[in-house]
Amino acid sequence: MSITLPGRKRPRRTRRTAALRDLVAETRVSANALVMPHFVLPDEHGEQPIASMPGISRLGRAELLTQIESDLALGIRTVLLFGVPGPESKGPDAAAAADPQAPVARAVRQIKAAFGDDLTVVTDVCLCAYTDHGHCGLLTADGHVDNDSSLAPLAAMAASHAEAGADLVAPSDMMDGRVAAIRDALDKRGLTETAILAYSAKFASAYYGPFRDAAASAPGQGDRCSYQMDPRNVEEAIREALLDEEEGADLLMVKPALAYLDVIARLRAVTRLPLVAYNVSGEYSAVKAAAAAGWLDERQIVTENLHAICRAGADIVITYHARDAIAGGWI
Ligand code: PBG
Ligand code: ZN
Repeated sequence: MSITLPGRKRPRRTRRTAALRDLVAETRVSANALVMPHFVLPDEHGEQPIASMPGISRLGRAELLTQIESDLALGIRTVLLFGVPGPESKGPDAAAAADPQAPVARAVRQIKAAFGDDLTVVTDVCLCAYTDHGHCGLLTADGHVDNDSSLAPLAAMAASHAEAGADLVAPSDMMDGRVAAIRDALDKRGLTETAILAYSAKFASAYYGPFRDAAASAPGQGDRCSYQMDPRNVEEAIREALLDEEEGADLLMVKPALAYLDVIARLRAVTRLPLVAYNVSGEYSAVKAAAAAGWLDERQIVTENLHAICRAGADIVITYHARDAIAGGWI
């Protein structure tokens, strides 16, 4: 038995062919919107595959340069750099974080000398890879992560990256007032053109597991819940983001991305700044593992995830899938 439709309203009309679907697609992800993260070793040479992140390796500066050159040819025009310093660079005061000879500062100088303004270089600014306890800020005598004494070393680290030529510095520590402290430190040194990408709403997430392995930055004791955000909160994420905007942030970020699409959408509605989403290590590794087991189609899942993040309101996506997505013609 069939019923007769009036025939006027038929949403399926625009889904009939692939060309029609592409014509009416509301979300388009372009290579220009993707940022590829890299883990930088202290050495000139090196390539250490990260077991928990198939396809991603910690690289020496020379290998990093080669990788960035081939990625740039593909159309990846922005990179985010994380330093992976050796144990000799870790201490209670994270002094080595602002060293002009630290892995990231050295790599930035080399990358900028090679690619100049063709490549946008973003650097992660956080103390956790440089503290011997692995927390993102300095500790008080009784073992609490101290907000205010962490601001100067963070600002010094950001300034060392900016002086090396970073286009954007991206504080991921979640201390209060760090955007203002970094902006002031940059301006005082005449680095007025270096932009700040604030990890505004960074949640205390289990999705960072593989990253901590990759960057050897897991806290030795305790967790990051006294500074990163509670996954139950969204109003607080908006307060954080608006504070960062007031303090002088140029771009805002939500991290992780997929479990926080509502946060992205809510923030999109209240800020006019470019909005970045970080499709983090655990989100990447979960897809890679399921794809390797044959449980999911990697191309379809990655395409769906990237479009979902942008549909929610992100303008820019930091993702370890960037190379595969662009090389494979997935987006
Ligand atoms: C450290 C930092 C982390 C990530 C970026 N910077 C991990 C953490 O906070 O423990 C996560 C990135 C990822 O999981 O891909 N401040
Ligand atoms: Zn950190």
